[in-house]
Formats: sequence, C-alpha cells, structure tokens
Amino acid sequence: MLIHVYKDAQEVGKAAAMIVAAEILKKEDCVLGLATGSTPIPTYKEMARMNKEGLIDFSKVRSYNLDEYIGLAPDHICSYRRFMNEQLFDHINIDKANTHVPCGIGEDHEADAKAYDEAVEAAGGIDLQILGIGHDGHIGFNEPGDEFISATNIVTLTDMTIDANTRFFEKRDDVPRQAITLGNRNIMAAKRIILLATGKDKAPAIAAAIKGNITPKMPASLLQVHPNVQFLLDEAAASLL
Ligand code: PGA
Repeated sequence: MLIHVYKDAQEVGKAAAMIVAAEILKKEDCVLGLATGSTPIPTYKEMARMNKEGLIDFSKVRSYNLDEYIGLAPDHICSYRRFMNEQLFDHINIDKANTHVPCGIGEDHEADAKAYDEAVEAAGGIDLQILGIGHDGHIGFNEPGDEFISATNIVTLTDMTIDANTRFFEKRDDVPRQAITLGNRNIMAAKRIILLATGKDKAPAIAAAIKGNITPKMPASLLQVHPNVQFLLDEAAASLL
C-alpha cells in the first residue's frame, strides 16, 4: 500500500490524472474503472485539460463506472451517467459507446448486475480503478456490513451516505435508497487501484481504512490486501494517519 500526501485537492487531481495518462500511454485501449462524487472532479478536469492539449488520447479507452442509483434514468439530473457525461465524457475524445455505467432503471436489477459483471470480465477486467471513499468507509456503494459483498449487486444506502449525498438533490427524500454497484470482489480484481480522498471530513475513514482492522464494517480496509493500491490524499484527509 502506497500513501501519497499532497497539499490540496487540486494537487491530488493532478497526480491522479498523471497516473491515468501513464496507464493510457502503456495501453491505449486500457479499461478504466471510474468513480463519481465530488472527489474525482479535479482529476477529471485535469484529464480533460491534458486531452485538449494532446497529451492523452482517449479514443480507444474503455470505461466502467462503479455504480448508479436505482430508479434514476440515465438523463436524470442526479444520475451518475449524467454526472460522467457532464464532468468528463463530454470534454474528452472518448467514444461514448465505450463508456459504461450500470443501469438503474431495468426491469430485473439482479440480471443487470450479472450482465455488468460479465461485461467487465469480457473486457479483460479493470486495468486502473479510481475510487473515492464514503464517510462510512464505503467503496463504490459497498456499505459497511457483516460480510464483504462480492459481485455487482443491489445495495441499500446507509443513512450516512444518504445524508452526504443529499447535497446533490433538492431534498433528502429525493435521494434514492438503493444503488447498483460493482462489488468488492470486482474492485479488488482491478490490476491497479488509486483511492482519492480530500478534506478533513474524510480523515476518520482514511485512518480506519489504512490503520484499522480489515473488516466488512469498514469496506475500504479490504484494500490493505490489494497488491497494487495507492492512496492519494490531501493533507486534511491524511491528518489522522
Ligand atoms: P465524494 O463521495 O467524493 O462526493 O465525497 C465519495 C464516495 O462516496 O465514494
């Protein structure tokens, strides 16, 4: 486990984008695992800048997002598909047909989860996974529980996650209670992982994930046993290490 501490969120974003760029240089059709939330936004801005300046070419890159809310159509203002289009895909030369976000509005969520799993596997697995971390230690939307969830599945969001994500919605009641998420097994199968965390409010989760016991009550602690994981933190998120 490698831990890198940067001055602020912008520096974390620059460092993460450099890692993405290196991955694409190494393998032009690499498979990126992408995350939503506020944390990766500086990374996506930097990726877009580097693409505009001709430093990275996304034309052959494929991507799989971690998760989507159950019940939100792709064009819903708070859907993660819409977030990805607006924050990244609309600003880079990626082929949208090569970008994937789990489906939150299918008739059969279990079948959709299985199909998503199979698609990731058929793509050869994830070369580089970008992760954020929830205040409760979730990765993707794998919330704390009694066991490490394995494959892509449907989860019920914790109150802490609903509280945290209310800021993206008009009111708390509008936040969907369920999500479809890549499982911990899929995340751990990624060849390389970078976890980004910024801000003082993430410091307790980061300390528990890095220094605490490996337990499903702190899903990110599972990363301790991944062979190629880097934590990219700003000083505030690293303040309890
Ligand atoms: P955030 O979300 O980047 O908006 O804090 C991270 C997460 O919930 O994984």
